[in-house]
Amino acid sequence: MAKKMIIANWKMNPWSLKEAKEIFGGIKKTAVKLKKTETVVCPPFIYLNELKTKNKGIKTGAQDIFWDDRKTSYTGEISAGMLKDAGVEYVIIGHSERREYLKETNETVNKKIKTALKNGFQVIFCIGERSRSDGEDYLTFVREEIEEGLKGAPRKLLKNLIVAYEPIWAIGKKASEADTPEDVLQMVIYIRRIILPFSGKDLARQFPVLYGGSVNPENAESFLSGAGVQGLLIGHESLISDHFGKILKIAEKIK
Ligand code: PGA
Repeated sequence: MAKKMIIANWKMNPWSLKEAKEIFGGIKKTAVKLKKTETVVCPPFIYLNELKTKNKGIKTGAQDIFWDDRKTSYTGEISAGMLKDAGVEYVIIGHSERREYLKETNETVNKKIKTALKNGFQVIFCIGERSRSDGEDYLTFVREEIEEGLKGAPRKLLKNLIVAYEPIWAIGKKASEADTPEDVLQMVIYIRRIILPFSGKDLARQFPVLYGGSVNPENAESFLSGAGVQGLLIGHESLISDHFGKILKIAEKIK
């Protein structure tokens, strides 16, 4: 059976390398003991080289990648080659905070996905609607994110695609404000249907879908066992190594 994937998205935290090492070390202690759970930590770029690990029980991911992988000039950007050199295997692309505050569009997300896949990374492609209020066509919004995000992506590379469904309204809140496993399950079925023309039938059935949005040790089990997801993308709770460790142990126990 495929491993559960529990992915930490540290966002713009913590503020010192010392703290980053402490949290990473705390997570690693639990992660290395697990057999059925893949643990990935995505710290800010500046810590990646320091957290480089040869331990197969824990991997690192980047929170973004630049879409041009040539050796050329883009002030402030980080290339695929640099990430590989830092031992990175996973890349988060299209997180809603980047879409909102850095004005990333489906088009830039698409370019980044293609570059990351071409360079052999596991791509954590984030999608999710802003709200579900009346009149808000959230299904169309999510469909467009997927269709435009994957446009022209070579089918044979999509085996390295992971979709993270993160409804924006559920991010950064208390567990009680997270989405429900029932609704996430519906979305997972919907997402697989939309990806089908891009991936073909076999892959559309199997590729990993994760849930993200206010997951903590209280609600992790309900998502992992009832939402049809293969894992979780965790923000603020991933900075507390005890809490993240608890979630890892919950994932390990689930059949
Ligand atoms: P959260 O963030 O767990 O703090 O809600 C999830 C994310 O944005 O990836």
